[in-house]
Amino acid sequence: MSQSYGNYQPEIYLNGLADQTPPFTTDPTRLAEAARERLADGPYWYVAGAAGSGATERANRAAFDRRRLVPRMLTGATERSLATTVLGEELAAPVLLAPVGVQGILHEDGELATARAAAGVGVPMVLSTASSHTIEDVAQANGAGQRWYQLYWPNDDDVTVSILDRARRAGFTTLVVTLDTWTLAWRPRDLDQSYLPFIRGVGCAIPFSDPAFRAGLAKPPEEDVLSAVLKWVPTFTGTDKTWDRLPFLRRHWEGPIVLKGIQHVGDARRAAAAGMDGIVVSNHGGRQVDGAVASLDALEPIAAAVGERLDVLFDSGVRTGADVLKALALGAKAVLYGRPYAYGLALGGEDGVRHVLRSLLADLDLTLGLSGHSSVAEVGPGSLSLE
Ligand SMILES: Cc1cc2nc3c(=O)[nH]c(=O)nc-3n(C[C@H](O)[C@H](O)[C@H](O)COP(=O)(O)O)c2cc1C
Repeated sequence: MSQSYGNYQPEIYLNGLADQTPPFTTDPTRLAEAARERLADGPYWYVAGAAGSGATERANRAAFDRRRLVPRMLTGATERSLATTVLGEELAAPVLLAPVGVQGILHEDGELATARAAAGVGVPMVLSTASSHTIEDVAQANGAGQRWYQLYWPNDDDVTVSILDRARRAGFTTLVVTLDTWTLAWRPRDLDQSYLPFIRGVGCAIPFSDPAFRAGLAKPPEEDVLSAVLKWVPTFTGTDKTWDRLPFLRRHWEGPIVLKGIQHVGDARRAAAAGMDGIVVSNHGGRQVDGAVASLDALEPIAAAVGERLDVLFDSGVRTGADVLKALALGAKAVLYGRPYAYGLALGGEDGVRHVLRSLLADLDLTLGLSGHSSVAEVGPGSLSLE
């Protein structure tokens, strides 16, 4: 399976014989600059921007740069597998598409394009509550693909239960509960443009199509979008929950539950004690607490503390195949890929997301083998050690 991921490289070179170059850059660090040319200021900075001074976003990358793989030779890594198992689900590679909201501002097909590309490449997508398309439409676009659902936890229990029920019925297997964005951070790039898509009703397809939410409206969103927005925004943002509320989610979700946004060992332990199945060590790509610790620096102590008890996933700053390997070496079972695919979506819809994903997986496959591993299970602390 993973051999076919690496094959994107010879495919690209062979296309060169017909004077064809790849449709988009293969360098994930150049995707933002390419997308900049396509997008207006509002959508571009909504993706590229961060909280405050951007210190945490930079720290996320610096933490990857400080760590180095130490390649091993003559290990016979010709045949390789990227396959792994996360939360009892078999994944073709230790990579999922991170929940990214409001994809309709990047491309008209938005989450539908992402769902198709993810299914085609064999990577699970995590659908955001702030989707521009309904749960059911995204599920249909994703077809036989693997899909998880990310919850921004509404204040209204009836709405929460209704959304969870819809997600479950639409084939979403794992619930990802994002804790770090219970209210939006100070994001100067968005503030300077007074740009917030939700206020215009963009990224609200899930509540607007939800029977429990609609039941509380005097007029349906199609007739009075502003009133619907003014009801939804304080329903899904602005109120911090507490640990004692987690059993409510457990009662209403049959599958695995993962808490996203964990950075402290104590919180990771609490997640395990609360009977959660997994966590995502994440600082939301530096979009929430400016000056917060780099997510990769938080990963190692957290994985050491709870890795035996729950599945530890990671995001924030992953760009290349080597980055994936570094996160695995520090204890992650899989990573969530964020901004790069959002740029791919802006550049070319489904084709753009597919290209970005295939590029990451090819790079991962080649770097796995060239650093002396035949499978992701072999990647560990030794992969970063000189002795
Ligand atoms: C434009 C954008 C929208 C996002 N929307 C959500 C969201 O709706 N729900 C969520 O849990 N995380 C959201 N995130 C955070 C991502 O899931 C992920 O944690 C982050 O992108 C990782 O950082 P990186 O992209 O720099 O690697 C968003 C990130 C971006 C860039």
